[in-house]
Amino acid sequence: MTNSLIVRKILRFKSLESTQDVAIDYAKKGEKEGLVVFAEKQTKGRGRLGRNWFALPFKSLTFSVLLRPPISLELSPFLSLFPALACAQALEKLGIKCSLKWPNDILIEGKKAGGILTEMESRGAFIEWAVVGVGINVNIEREDFPKELRETATSLYIALGKNLDIHNIFEIILKELNEKYPLCLSEEGRKKLRELYDERDFLKEKFVEVGLANGDVVKGVAEGINEKGFLRVRRGDKITIVPAGDVFILKNKNLLKEA
Ligand code: BTN
Repeated sequence: MTNSLIVRKILRFKSLESTQDVAIDYAKKGEKEGLVVFAEKQTKGRGRLGRNWFALPFKSLTFSVLLRPPISLELSPFLSLFPALACAQALEKLGIKCSLKWPNDILIEGKKAGGILTEMESRGAFIEWAVVGVGINVNIEREDFPKELRETATSLYIALGKNLDIHNIFEIILKELNEKYPLCLSEEGRKKLRELYDERDFLKEKFVEVGLANGDVVKGVAEGINEKGFLRVRRGDKITIVPAGDVFILKNKNLLKEA
């Protein structure tokens, strides 16, 4: 891939504990933007909120990309939104319809097929580096998933009924990442990202409960994302802007009355 912002150098490993750790090490040592760390097998992958990320060799796509976006920290949600969107659009090219659950889940028929973990360091109000980790369940069969994930997780194999080539998907996703990344860097681009996100917003108009980092819980109707990529949750006349959190869908609107 040439003239690429995202892909300057790809490091391919047979096995790693986490592609995030390796990319972050490089970031801290001053590596330039555009390093991609790919692992055939990831033994200790992590997800958001300190969770483990389940992955199997040749059945999961796991990689991390080092970025140095010249944007302020408050726009950091776009560094999860653009890769989620890039993955969704890549999968759509393979004939798989996806939706996105804020902030970082890639869903097929409401089940999680992939996720994005963006970790970063800032200098003052600006981002020094960001490492975007992408995990996609490619050839995983239902029985491969641990029991606790079987009802909520899915894979491209489950969606299409056939195995796919991990390297081919990796390439398609990198191409989409490359196209979407520049959109993060301008106001107009972020508007476009919001529009593309809105078309795939799984939470839109759903009753949700959001756990905030400080332990508070917000309940209401999800109303898309604002210009900073934060989730908007409406309760009556009041709109709460959620910068980060864990979202659960409430099956019953009446649950809203309890809090
Ligand atoms: C989530 O949904 O919680 C995010 C999952 C991110 C997993 C990817 S796999 C590649 C990279 N390395 C990791 O350890 N995690 C991310």
